[in-house]
Amino acid sequence: MTQEASQNPSGRVAVVTGASSGLGRHFALTLAKAGYDVVAAARRTERLKDLAQEIEALGRRCEAVGIDVTEVASVTEGLENAWRRMGRFDVLVNNAGIALSAKALDHSDDDWNQVIDTNLTGAWHCAQAFARKLAETGAGGCIVNVASILGLRVAGQVAAYAVSKAAVIQMTKALALELAQQNIRVNALAPGYIETDLNRGFLQSDAGERMRRKIPMKRFGRPEDLDAGLLFLAGEGAGYVTGSVLTIDGGHVLPLP
Ligand SMILES: NC(=O)c1ccc[n+]([C@@H]2O[C@H](COP(=O)([O-])OP(=O)(O)OC[C@H]3O[C@@H](n4cnc5c(N)ncnc54)[C@H](OP(=O)(O)O)[C@@H]3O)[C@@H](O)[C@H]2O)c1
Repeated sequence: MTQEASQNPSGRVAVVTGASSGLGRHFALTLAKAGYDVVAAARRTERLKDLAQEIEALGRRCEAVGIDVTEVASVTEGLENAWRRMGRFDVLVNNAGIALSAKALDHSDDDWNQVIDTNLTGAWHCAQAFARKLAETGAGGCIVNVASILGLRVAGQVAAYAVSKAAVIQMTKALALELAQQNIRVNALAPGYIETDLNRGFLQSDAGERMRRKIPMKRFGRPEDLDAGLLFLAGEGAGYVTGSVLTIDGGHVLPLP
């Protein structure tokens, strides 16, 4: 990393998966506002084009890349194309994810596989492809995996999701251990509940309202509640932070039920 890039995100490139909606879209804009150029990845590329225009209006570069994280060839090819256009990667925000709700005994194999393939194996594909590019050039960088408080505690009817996020936390630590040698830091964000397409139906239901009342801070999160944590983990101030899990949840995981 050049001296200039180490002091200022300007000229650094952040790859954000799941950038077509919700938190990923917000993360891409937050990083662009902080000075990063952005590779915005997801399957719905028409949505990424709007995001790219917004980021370019902020004076930053944005490459929209169609990637299905469950397909290793799609990830490798997408990141390879993005690398050719951007010339460097500094940060990966491993954010693409899905949630399916079903009682444990009603979870079909298809549901289970879809959640694990996207949230865990998909994140693994992206981390591997990103870290291989960095290792090729000898440049350092960092990965921020988007886990969840459901990787730390469990709730009813989201077994596959909770298992996938617990595994993402363990993957974070395993990669942090091995990639330190390549000067790649790997950390996880564990957000509480933040209203997006992923959970809008539940958060607006009576059960969601009952959950809100149990959060010590008595509110769900907002995407901007994650900004400082994301920028900290991605930035040089966290230069000695690796293998950590940063919980941002208004105290949601603290009380006994
Ligand atoms: N919202 C919360 O309360 C909350 C809390 C904790 C953690 N999280 C985590 O935050 C992340 C983002 O969730 P969100 O709430 O922003 O949900 P969202 O609005 O539904 O966004 C999910 C994103 O993931 C992408 N995605 C899904 N499957 C993909 C695939 N196979 N390949 C590539 N991209 C894929 C989607 O893009 P395409 O469909 O266009 O591909 C979309 O951009 C997830 O990992 C989620 O588990 C969310």
